[in-house]
Amino acid sequence: MTTRLIVLAAGKGTRMKSSMPKVLHRLAGKPLLGHVLDTGMQLEPASITVVIGHGAEQVQQCITHPVRWALQREQLGTGHAVRQGMEGIEDDDTVLITYGDVPLTRAATYQALLDVCDEHTIGLLTVMMDDPTGYGRILREGGAIVGVVEQKDATVDQLGIPEVNAGVVAIKGGSLRDLLGRIDDDNAQGEYYLTDIHDLAVRDGLRIVAVHPADSWEVDGVNSRSQLARLERLHQQHLAEGLMDEGVTLADPARIDIRGSLKTGTDVTIDVNCVFEGDCIIGSHVTIGPNCHLSGSTIADGSTLLANCILDDAQVGSDAHIGPFARLRPGTRVASGSRIGNFVETKNAIIGEGSKINHLSYVGDADVGRNVNVGAGTITCNYDGANKHRTIIGDNVFIGSNSALVAPVTVSDGATVGAGSTITRNVPADRLSLTRAKQTDIDNWSRPVKKK
Ligand code: UD1
Ligand code: CA
Repeated sequence: MTTRLIVLAAGKGTRMKSSMPKVLHRLAGKPLLGHVLDTGMQLEPASITVVIGHGAEQVQQCITHPVRWALQREQLGTGHAVRQGMEGIEDDDTVLITYGDVPLTRAATYQALLDVCDEHTIGLLTVMMDDPTGYGRILREGGAIVGVVEQKDATVDQLGIPEVNAGVVAIKGGSLRDLLGRIDDDNAQGEYYLTDIHDLAVRDGLRIVAVHPADSWEVDGVNSRSQLARLERLHQQHLAEGLMDEGVTLADPARIDIRGSLKTGTDVTIDVNCVFEGDCIIGSHVTIGPNCHLSGSTIADGSTLLANCILDDAQVGSDAHIGPFARLRPGTRVASGSRIGNFVETKNAIIGEGSKINHLSYVGDADVGRNVNVGAGTITCNYDGANKHRTIIGDNVFIGSNSALVAPVTVSDGATVGAGSTITRNVPADRLSLTRAKQTDIDNWSRPVKKK
């Protein structure tokens, strides 16, 4: 069986009131359309055609999945949109049609629709809703589906039907092509509705079989920012529950945001308002304080992140202490047992085992050895205004507070740099180096007094 996917994503999304096409609005950090395509790809279809129109170039730029693009120049309705995506579809292909603004349908649900579909049967995803407002309603006679009526075309009686069309259909390519050729735009919105194929199909003797999702939120579509926000919260709640099932303690499951993938070991504790982006990995017995923002970062077993840390593309080894208020920028690697304290910024820096940078420092483009103490206010001056240079600090080095290390420069093993130094030459091993104006003490000095 050849499976082909058609994803509709040409609509403007008027109710979003946005200059960006609706399907590019993000849920859990990923464009709505990206969710549909990621899930669709799990089915390993022979092709995925995305029908684009409004903001087509923006959509093409943003989406990197291997898809065929079909252009719908004018948005004349979902049925018209599918027609634009029919190229290359054979009669006996099984076509799964999904909407780019329905992001959270599971792959298993798509598969269930494909499984019921054959020459005589269309699979249609439907669900019972407490508030079906806005959705197409499923019409049944004697239990069998006989059609779908849109909200705007429905009679008062039909509006009372709680079973709605999710917008996902599995149908044979031949039937689809034939039915699409017969729908018209004689309805409240003057559009070619995809949903009109069902009534025609039933008259042709085809059967429409309803498939229901495991959870009703799988069919939630996004038409407004308020629906987007609601779906985001719902999705985050499920992600939080998944974490807790894995053995993570969340101070408040309603105050965590995962915009990517988060893998966790056992006995991880996460305080409120933490945001995880990209792919993050957290080992066992890790504690994360409130208000931390991690993206693409890894934290090994037994480490602690205190409040308000930002980790971007950083790797923290085991039993390390980070924060509060530390910013670890891309390329930071902190080895086991190290400490990065408050108001410390690191970038492209390797910090060796057991080293400490406890206060108010910038360490960038640097290799720091083991058991190094970097005093408060130390700056690696990595940028000369044109190029970046590296600072190399050996093992067991002590850098006194408020020192400037002007790169390229090396401070060798066991060296000590006196507080307040500006180091411009390499410091030899086991020596004390300092650049410091001598202190002057003036006797009998009286401070100026304010004039009356
Ligand atoms: C549609 C269904 C409705 C269903 C609901 C589920 C139709 C006529 N109605 O209504 O039964 O309950 O989805 O969420 O199908 N699109 C195009 N080209 C167009 C029009 C739409 O590509 O000309 C795309 C949109 O970008 C969107 C999807 O099709 O991704 C659905 O369009 P939308 O206008 O949101 O349809 P609904 O009114 O929500
Ligand atoms: Ca919609």
